[in-house]
Amino acid sequence: MDKIVIEGGKPLKGEVQVSGAKNAALPILAAALLAPGESIMRNVPDLQDVRTFTALLRFLGARTSVEGSVVHIDASTVNRPEAPYELVKQMRASVLVLGPLLARFGKAKVSLPGGCAIGARPINLHLKGLEAMGARISLERGYVIAEADRLKGAEINFDISTHTGTENLMMAATLAKGRTVLINAAREPEVEELARILNKMGARISGAGTNIIEIEGTDDLEPFDHAIMADRIEAGTFLVAGCLPGSDIIVKGCLPEHLGSVISKLGQSGVDVEPTARGIRVRGTERPEPVDITTAPYPGFPTDMQAQFMVLMCLSSGQSLITETVFENRFMHVSELQRMGADISVRGRSAIIRGQERLCGAQVMATDLRASASLVLAGLAAENTTEVLRVYHIDRGYERIEEKLGKLGCRVKRVAGSA
Ligand code: EPU
Repeated sequence: MDKIVIEGGKPLKGEVQVSGAKNAALPILAAALLAPGESIMRNVPDLQDVRTFTALLRFLGARTSVEGSVVHIDASTVNRPEAPYELVKQMRASVLVLGPLLARFGKAKVSLPGGCAIGARPINLHLKGLEAMGARISLERGYVIAEADRLKGAEINFDISTHTGTENLMMAATLAKGRTVLINAAREPEVEELARILNKMGARISGAGTNIIEIEGTDDLEPFDHAIMADRIEAGTFLVAGCLPGSDIIVKGCLPEHLGSVISKLGQSGVDVEPTARGIRVRGTERPEPVDITTAPYPGFPTDMQAQFMVLMCLSSGQSLITETVFENRFMHVSELQRMGADISVRGRSAIIRGQERLCGAQVMATDLRASASLVLAGLAAENTTEVLRVYHIDRGYERIEEKLGKLGCRVKRVAGSA
């Protein structure tokens, strides 16, 4: 297993290009299953999760090929509507094939994902929605078996805003008979991006980006050709990196409106963040002000930025409170940050952070994707050397992060093959 070794304390300078969005790419790969023929995705990030998803599509019988950042998916040959445990356990987002497979083939067998490092993460709302659309669902030996002659449009009111739940049901509803209305739908930009692609395919979706989405079902869909939007969480991670004292960077390619809550909180902490024609410019500050955050579904502060923002607060001039409301166990990075000298206490779903003048380098271990990103950020800020172990987590969601940071002047290298 590789590790990332960081010599901290160097201000970041220059420009960094944000890659295509992981959490848009995965549902869009699933959407390709809805239509026979070849779909083309551009600006696809080179990430482990994308490789796992294309492996799943091939398992289902699709043909895929990759040329740089362009992925071709021919879903004409799909003949095995089954997502096996071996692939689903590597990546929960595999469950996104459930809606499209059921809608196009009338049946799907998908392994239940089980819990993960950040919470239990059930998929009950995905299943309840499909049942409301007429699917017969049973659970057998760890698998969801779903069947339907043809899905029927329904009114579905989500108890909780669920990002991939909204995407799964939106995809299923495109080929259903009649109109589906999703109430309390997730409003994330990736949901809107998926709706854009589905509409390119011939679907009739309105309201994506609001919490009521209407889908008028259609008999068939066409393949698509689409370039994926930039990754707002990768962008947000670089914005936090640019907060180090003396840093001055431009984060290129992402839309500032996708990062409203993050930019607003960075501004409150005294960091200078400014959208420019070339990208979002961030200039670091000697000591950020303490700022409280509470994570929430979009447009609230993203849970996927909580760990990274906590690193900034570890270096603030006072005490801040971070409350995690989306996942029940997303403070796994705290004990690693404490090993680097951070003063943090966790009380239930909140963490109290007392800012320090400095963090000190240490060997730390990543437990999930965003936690690993936070440890890399902490390493950039810390004195001496930090080694982030188990970087396979970061490879799931950040394209060549060490190269991008290196171009910004950071002293970061990947060391292959260590524990
Ligand atoms: N939930 C249920 N039942 C369901 C679905 C969700 O109780 O049927 C709960 C979850 O347990 C959680 C909350 O609802 O407490 C919200 O979960 P959601 O379904 O929105 O999360 P997700 O769709 O599984 C996506 C992203 C995550 C991101 C969350 C929240 C993808 C592939 N994943 O997960 O991304 O944290 O939305 O924004 O889009 C990441 O990229 O690091 C990552 C974890």
